Amino acid sequence: MIECQQITKTYETGGVAAQVLKGITFSINDGEFVAIMGPSGSGKSTLMHILGALDKPTSGEYVLDGKQMAELSDDELADIRKNKIGFVFQSFNLLSRTTVLRNVMLPLVYAGIPKEEREERARAALKNTGLEETHYHHRSNQLSGGQMQRVAIARALVNNPSMILADEPTGNLDTKTGEIVLATFQSLNREQHHTIILITHERDVAEHADRIIHIRDGHIVEDAKNTHKRTADLQNV
Ligand SMILES: Nc1ncnc2c1ncn2[C@@H]1O[C@H](COP(=O)(O)OP(=O)(O)O)[C@@H](O)[C@H]1O
Ligand SMILES: [Mg+2]
Repeated sequence: MIECQQITKTYETGGVAAQVLKGITFSINDGEFVAIMGPSGSGKSTLMHILGALDKPTSGEYVLDGKQMAELSDDELADIRKNKIGFVFQSFNLLSRTTVLRNVMLPLVYAGIPKEEREERARAALKNTGLEETHYHHRSNQLSGGQMQRVAIARALVNNPSMILADEPTGNLDTKTGEIVLATFQSLNREQHHTIILITHERDVAEHADRIIHIRDGHIVEDAKNTHKRTADLQNV
């Protein structure tokens, strides 16, 4: 589904060029749960922006579901972001004074889904994250960090995307709360076969995925099956 060939990215700031990605090649199949791991500054978010069609590589090829991304117009890329990709960020990016349900329905408003269907789909997505129904009408700023991230995951899921891109989704959470979020990803992958790409600088977090792509200084230094898979258990948190 995802094929990256020799992706590079160079940023120019104040006339100085810095190559952040230096030739990244990998592919990810539908239904995989992959972690992209690397230290801070190694180019993880830069790569995520490219995979999410939020930015373009300087050179190299990115093919998503058979489409050459470089050949698409801005409108076509916006459609792909809206319909194929669910984004989850470290900072949740929820509307704070808006209810849980409305936050999750919002992408469906942009996608032009009729009103009745929006609530039904938002409820189904929230159910998949395990957030208690009693919170659906709370404003998002009344929730704990772990609950907020579950709402953000539901929002990412509501369009039924072919992949979820999560950039440091546990970065603002304590270890125990982070486990809830990782358990949510594991169950979405196992039970609903969602493709999940989890970006993290922490090995403990990466070890919840089935495969770990390790990047350092803009290169892939290792890409292998995770032989130390951790199972996050929702029951014990
Ligand atoms: N928009 C940008 N303009 C210039 N430099 C950037 C930009 N985004 C990231 N960088 C630089 O690229 C490098 C990698 O950043 P990033 O992809 O955010 O790494 P990571 O997510 O692994 O911490 C850093 O040195 C960062 O300062
Ligand atoms: Mg980053």
